[in-house]
Amino acid sequence: MKKVLVTGGCGYIGSHTIVDLIENGYEVVSIDNLSNSSDDALDGIEKITGKRVKNYKVNLVDRSSTFDVFEEHPDIAGIIHFAALKAVGESVEKPLWYFENNLIGMINILKAMDTFNVPHLIFSSSCSVYGNADSLPVTEDTPLKEAESPYARTKQMCEQIIEDTLHHYTQLNAILLRYFNPAGAHESALIGESPVNKANNLVPVITETAIGKRDKMTVFGDDYDTRDGSCVRDYIHVMDLANAHTKALDYLLSEKNESNLEVFNIGIGEGVSVLEAVKAFEKVTGLQLNYEIGPRRAGDVVAIYANKEKTERVLGWEPSRSIEDIMQTAWAWEQKRTGVEI
Ligand code: UD1
Repeated sequence: MKKVLVTGGCGYIGSHTIVDLIENGYEVVSIDNLSNSSDDALDGIEKITGKRVKNYKVNLVDRSSTFDVFEEHPDIAGIIHFAALKAVGESVEKPLWYFENNLIGMINILKAMDTFNVPHLIFSSSCSVYGNADSLPVTEDTPLKEAESPYARTKQMCEQIIEDTLHHYTQLNAILLRYFNPAGAHESALIGESPVNKANNLVPVITETAIGKRDKMTVFGDDYDTRDGSCVRDYIHVMDLANAHTKALDYLLSEKNESNLEVFNIGIGEGVSVLEAVKAFEKVTGLQLNYEIGPRRAGDVVAIYANKEKTERVLGWEPSRSIEDIMQTAWAWEQKRTGVEI
């Protein structure tokens, strides 16, 4: 059984990925400082898989404590690096905090790979590295434009740090997965997105409004040059996204990679507008959402969705869940975690 280190294993995408890894025969160890997550996620993972995952409450910025985990586990075959700050708006307010966390954490992981001979890395990147792309859908070769936020810049910089590092350390391999908009929850409703900080992504904002945690929500702008004036995104179900990590790791471990650094888009390949997402929620739940149209949000790109052809062809990955599945599972999770049934 191959052992995988997942950083950010108690977080939203990390916890769902651990489930998929365990179901595909991997043993998992997690590092998560619980700054925007809770180790309750480990209980959910155990209920789903029957396996208890050990989490080390370590901040990756602290190199010595990070290295201690590697010393305790000399048999780590690969790392999936999720642990990072990820709120676009917050990154505009606190850029240095974002650079410190996301860049130093990344550097310490690469140093650990070199020091402890861990050959494989999957990095949690983002479609935000493309900025306002000139043409849609974006392929992995679409030129990266100016980042729209410090958050997006940290993702661009981490990609560059990995590229330069692997240019020198040719025995290391990495895959950059550029996620589009992850949303939804595990079908069991035993794990899902539970940020410690206030939710600001669209789907949790929708479910929090419907459950009554918020009086109403705001659609940020209806005057964009899109089919209904609201921004367009590619919403990818978190379990489909989770499986992309397992597929990427299988690919590296079976030495199928053509070079030591490869990039893949992870999206369903279709754009959905904010207003269409709201309608999908209303259709699936039969509820009416209290929303208003507000001004544009700083740092938002107008529209972005993926070309996923390379990911399907090379990794054999195929997303199977729709925006309705996203809304249905996110809603089940919101009701479960709040104990309110509507
Ligand atoms: C961004 C990044 C994404 C990253 C994510 C992390 C881009 C293109 N994408 O997603 O890669 O993983 O941050 O947080 O930069 N909206 C509303 N009202 C709300 C909340 C959101 O109208 O209350 C709208 C936004 O304006 C946007 C869409 O919903 O058009 C999605 O927003 P959000 O869920 O926050 O994700 P992104 O900002 O697209």
